[in-house]
Amino acid sequence: MTFSSLTVSLKPEITLTSVDSNILLQSSSRKLTFHQPEPGLKTALDALKQGTHTAGQLQTLVLETDGTQVREKFDAYLNRLIELGWICHAIPPSSPELSPLAIAIPMVGDYYFDCPEIDWDAFAFTLSRFAYLHQVEGEMVLESPLTKGKIKFSDWRGPGLVSQLSQPQTAASLSQEIPGITEEIAQQFLSLLFAAQMLSASFASPLEEDEEVESEEATPPLVFWEFHDLLFHSRSRLGRHNNPLGGIFPYVGKIDPLPGVKPLMTDVVIPLAKPNLEELNQTDMPLSQALETRRSIRRYDETPITLEQLGQFLYRCARVKKLFDTERGEVSNRPYPGGGAIYELEIYPVVNSCQGLEQGLYHYHPLDHVLCQVSAWTAETEALVQDVWFASAQHDQPQVVFVITARFGRMFWKYQSMAYAAILKHVGVIYQTFYLVATSMNLAPCGIGAGNSDLFQKATGIDYYEESSVGEFMLASVPVKP
Ligand SMILES: Cc1cc2nc3c(=O)[nH]c(=O)nc-3n(C[C@H](O)[C@H](O)[C@H](O)COP(=O)(O)O)c2cc1C
Repeated sequence: MTFSSLTVSLKPEITLTSVDSNILLQSSSRKLTFHQPEPGLKTALDALKQGTHTAGQLQTLVLETDGTQVREKFDAYLNRLIELGWICHAIPPSSPELSPLAIAIPMVGDYYFDCPEIDWDAFAFTLSRFAYLHQVEGEMVLESPLTKGKIKFSDWRGPGLVSQLSQPQTAASLSQEIPGITEEIAQQFLSLLFAAQMLSASFASPLEEDEEVESEEATPPLVFWEFHDLLFHSRSRLGRHNNPLGGIFPYVGKIDPLPGVKPLMTDVVIPLAKPNLEELNQTDMPLSQALETRRSIRRYDETPITLEQLGQFLYRCARVKKLFDTERGEVSNRPYPGGGAIYELEIYPVVNSCQGLEQGLYHYHPLDHVLCQVSAWTAETEALVQDVWFASAQHDQPQVVFVITARFGRMFWKYQSMAYAAILKHVGVIYQTFYLVATSMNLAPCGIGAGNSDLFQKATGIDYYEESSVGEFMLASVPVKP
């Protein structure tokens, strides 16, 4: 059996200690005690720690030393340890001092690693479209959002074999590709990757068309998933990886946090109007009415929105109400909620037509409640507006387009794994705030689903990795009813 010819070993972080005549296996969060294990079982557990034996060798060892019953017990223990995510599987190296060609390492518990007995003449294998190879701390690693483990390769042959799997390969065809890879090693390699859910299987030579196996990835629900979406989803949530996730503050003491408010971008500063909030508290549209009457509006009045309306709108949606210092940098309060009170989003009104304001690209300074002109009307600002018009059914020309950017460093300084996902959530929060305030001000709001971040970078000269656009929103005047 190819599968049982894989080396099994405890993950390095699992400790094994002998206490009296018991054996204790321990992770950072869990302890398993084997009470007075039989001699063969004890040797097998020690060998698991050393990582010197295949599963098949350990089964034989226990069977020969302790008999059938203990061998069955060992199988159950091994399966339980695999399920806990404590066991690595590897292709046995040709000599003990060499690293294995490939080793499968579980990242979390509730781990699945199994491979049926394979008819090697009948089946061919192809790499999952979700699997990806990347360099991590000087090693090539194969990962996939479908799995809870990863595979590390000791040298170029592993990634070389993986690249051959872009096309269906039998063990025989795979063994012809790389020097030193025998058919037996190719079988072990395919078993390892198949058990780790990195491969799909098909008939090596289907006789009829209807004998072709439709891979799980080509049918719902997986067929709908794009590679980047599933990777982002799985890596920004808990469950199938062991990367740090949450408010980790990985750069404290290494890199200073960015300021809570982006400094004024230019000397050209345009003061903005403020609403009378006390008066609004008495006269404003009730929340239920704003929610019930809110619509996305793409037809506008010929007379565009005014600078005064723009000022009042930005004040109600996005001003800084309070900025304060903490031990972990500046945070603020604004009308809309934001994870960690970090407020990484910036608003850039691209003005096509607004009474009292020249065409151009502006930055909203939410603490001073002013606009700074970042760019005059250029080919790039015009293209930003045209992109939004194309994305919104091409009705009337947009009047003001808010390009929403994220100062990524604000979020990345605190959060790991989930920072970008939280930024997109914040974009949703600001969209709804824009929608409701626009409705209560009788203005025409419309969210936009996709924009061109490189075009924004070209229009402003802002570094793409430091701060890019993550959302777009149109605001305009509502047509006056005859
Ligand atoms: C995140 C988001 C993205 C949107 N993207 C677009 C878009 O690209 N183009 C567009 O015309 N409308 C867009 N809309 C508006 C929706 O089409 C609209 O909300 C939906 O049709 C429901 O209609 P209603 O807003 O009038 O209730 C978007 C809305 C949201 C919240």
